[in-house]
Amino acid sequence: MLILGAGEVRAVLDGAEREVVAAVDSAYRSHALGRTQVPQSVFLRFPNADRERIIALPAFLGGATPTCGVKWVSSFPDNLRRGMHRASAVMILNSVHTGVPEAILEASAISAGRTAASAALAASTLSSSSPETAVTLVGCGPINFEVLRYLQTVLPTVDTVTLYDLSAERAQSFAAEARSVWPTLQVDVAESAADALARHKLVCLATTASAPHLGTEHCRPGTLVLHLSLRDLTTDSIHSSVNIVDDADHVCRAATSLDLAQQEAGHRDFISSSLGHILVAGERYVRSDDAVTVFSPFGLGCLDLAVADVVRHAASARGLGTTLDDFLPTKQQVFA
Ligand SMILES: NC(=O)c1ccc[n+]([C@@H]2O[C@H](COP(=O)([O-])OP(=O)(O)OC[C@H]3O[C@@H](n4cnc5c(N)ncnc54)[C@H](O)[C@@H]3O)[C@@H](O)[C@H]2O)c1
Repeated sequence: MLILGAGEVRAVLDGAEREVVAAVDSAYRSHALGRTQVPQSVFLRFPNADRERIIALPAFLGGATPTCGVKWVSSFPDNLRRGMHRASAVMILNSVHTGVPEAILEASAISAGRTAASAALAASTLSSSSPETAVTLVGCGPINFEVLRYLQTVLPTVDTVTLYDLSAERAQSFAAEARSVWPTLQVDVAESAADALARHKLVCLATTASAPHLGTEHCRPGTLVLHLSLRDLTTDSIHSSVNIVDDADHVCRAATSLDLAQQEAGHRDFISSSLGHILVAGERYVRSDDAVTVFSPFGLGCLDLAVADVVRHAASARGLGTTLDDFLPTKQQVFA
């Protein structure tokens, strides 16, 4: 059994953005081609606590070297007040031949990396008719910080970022950190969400809003909204936008904006396509100049697997991690 802690996972992921984006791109294509198994995520919730949750995302990713496993990811928004991260995660990778667990990985950076890679991949795939030079980030937590990191890799023409957060303190500390990591980046903080949305034609929402609070009427035509937090946009905004998803069956549940829009309409015809199908089609996609395009990814377990597999192999090659040879029972112990 290989065990990889947070520092070891981070050591592998730092500087591996291109490899992570390639793994996520490949996983999306596999999913579109029916080469994955991604059962619906299971949400564990708690009595009298509607914001806290722990989600299990089991998955199988086919291909030349198939892999399978599960991510178990917690979201406790009040952790921020405790000086902790909101999210924490662990992954187990199993053998596809014997089912035996082979590796346990601390997965918060894997989860954030695959989410940011999918956002950056969507931004480059759902391309604008003019070069992307600026981005608005609403919600100033680790997910949007990773999105900014991956955008720098995938869309290096982005040199300006506008931030907005309900917490001015979080927006300011995000701005300070971004300026220190990318000294040439122009960083400013908007006064309101509406102002932030109107600034740039690339927007990423990564808040912890649990009910719609934002409309795309603030966006300029031709804007791409990366709707990572899934519950920000009003149903009117969903109905009036071009909607691209990762998987319609996954994203139209759990009170996402698309789930609410589907309940209102009695159908989900407002979804145009999935990112995987656009990637597989292989033709350059240019988003509408006249409408707002919204990318809503539920977050597929096969993406976590793809990135965890990159991490596992790179860590093994570099001799990172702890191997517990006696983690599993021997045959004698099983039948004793
Ligand atoms: N779709 C996916 O695949 C995927 C994957 C991982 C995380 N996420 C989501 O991304 C979101 C952000 O994650 P994080 O770890 O950065 O969270 P975080 O809690 O660290 O940060 C969220 C920030 O959003 C701010 N915020 C909350 N409501 C807001 C509002 N109405 N307007 C503006 N700002 C608001 C908070 O003040 C906070 O600073 C979470 O909702 C998480 O579930 C999505």
